[in-house]
Amino acid sequence: MSIWQSLSGNFETNASRSILGLFDDPERFASFSARCGDYLLDYSKTNLDAEAKSLLLDLARSCGVEAKRDAMFAGNAINQTENRAVLHTALRNLSGRPVLVDGVDVMPDVLETLEAMKTFSARVRSGELASASGAPFTDVVNIGIGGSDLGPVMANIALSPYHDGPRVHFVSNVDGADIHDTLKGLDPATTLLIIASKTFTTIETMTNAETGKKWLLQAVSEERIGDHLAALSTARDKTAEFGIPENHVFGFADWVGGRYSVWGPIGLSVMLSIGPENFTDFLQGAEEMDTHFRETPLEENLPVLLALVGIWHSNICGYATRAVLPYDQRLLRLPAYLQQLDMESNGKGVDMEGNPLPRHSGPIVWGEPGTNGQHAFYQLIHQGTRVVPCEFLVARRGHESELAHQHRLLLANCLAQSEALMIGRSMDEARELMREQGFEGAELEKQAAHRVFPGNRPSVTMMYNILDPKTLGKIIALYEHRVFVEGVIWGINSFDQWGVELGKVLATRMLPLIEGEATSEDKDGSTRGLLATL
Ligand code: F6P
Repeated sequence: MSIWQSLSGNFETNASRSILGLFDDPERFASFSARCGDYLLDYSKTNLDAEAKSLLLDLARSCGVEAKRDAMFAGNAINQTENRAVLHTALRNLSGRPVLVDGVDVMPDVLETLEAMKTFSARVRSGELASASGAPFTDVVNIGIGGSDLGPVMANIALSPYHDGPRVHFVSNVDGADIHDTLKGLDPATTLLIIASKTFTTIETMTNAETGKKWLLQAVSEERIGDHLAALSTARDKTAEFGIPENHVFGFADWVGGRYSVWGPIGLSVMLSIGPENFTDFLQGAEEMDTHFRETPLEENLPVLLALVGIWHSNICGYATRAVLPYDQRLLRLPAYLQQLDMESNGKGVDMEGNPLPRHSGPIVWGEPGTNGQHAFYQLIHQGTRVVPCEFLVARRGHESELAHQHRLLLANCLAQSEALMIGRSMDEARELMREQGFEGAELEKQAAHRVFPGNRPSVTMMYNILDPKTLGKIIALYEHRVFVEGVIWGINSFDQWGVELGKVLATRMLPLIEGEATSEDKDGSTRGLLATL
């Protein structure tokens, strides 16, 4: 029998077992939780038992997770469809331990770029590197999309207690409304535009960059416009063509995937906002998680365990989605960030050799911060017909010490939700509730049925001391490695993204039709119909 079959067997035997009943074992929490410093992963409120856990660990081993992890850190070209190494971990390798790509240590370049970013940030923040008029920059606008936007946006919001630099804004959508609304109210005379694009060809970003440049020209002369521009890219030839001075370009190598790039130059806007020291702490947090991932036995390894819980829920239990529910308002954009990280990485249909997968790959990832979600979609999570495994994140304390009572309320809500999902409310309990309210007979039965919670719904909870730069670094690195481990188990390439290409190609062909420069004869009836209404 294969490990997959044994896992399914375990699930079938135990599917209706009470998760709450598993806590009859007083060691349940200790056996089904793990830590990396103050970061705790509790996966005890799932239907995993010792046998299933051990099978999942066997699965990870049999798929070569450890060897593949080491190959990634060693700079092997594990992104086979693009023939590239995958080395975002080098960007936070503050120890400078050599990392070889084709026999060449990439660390001197990485550390040199980090130093250049720090110098640039410090000079902008102090006003030494000023606008063309000599006035300090008051605002920075990062123009980028996908990985060149989601990481910095998410981190910038998450670390708002550390903002002490220029105000940072983000433009991503090609919808003119985005750049219009962002630039409205900003002064081009004191605004620095950062064009963030790994390839420097992405149509949305290049279109917004041109619009931004024109806006700058309202206040800055053509000769001095370079003072107001910076670029984050692997394509130095293209940044020069765009008019960005060499010393305002922060480059990185093609072995940094877009959705894994917040740790390097793509994080410049965050560094400008929180300062080089806090940014270094962010890197350090990620480096700690890297070390944990590399050195901790699989049984206690947070990314591995989170991945195995994910595999269990999606492949064995058949739950199609997972909800990420940060009880931390500043992790507002974490679900969106994870949607790219997880779904662009693991939303694949073929294995490394191009063969169709025998089972599902990446699940649908979604979420919103609690407590807001409670007043929106939690109804379905608690009583709907589908089971949604939930991932709760919460800090033990907030930054606002004067509002500690609100933080206690936040914590109470977070813990209550995972408890409610697990314990539910039986028909008998619901009847009792209705009886207390004066109902009886058939009406009592009907009313009670609506107040039943099936319960036995799984969740994991992650707890950390406070959302500081280090913790954020740990959280993101944890999720990156979780995605990696899941990808290894599914046998897919988590580091390419061919699925985004077709739409891009078709959009380029569609534009002339919208501009009336081509006819729509060869289009399908729906597209023709829609075009006809323009
Ligand atoms: O559309 C997919 C994608 O290639 C992402 O993977 C990437 O993060 C984003 O576009 C932006 O790409 P770039 O940084 O090259 O502009």
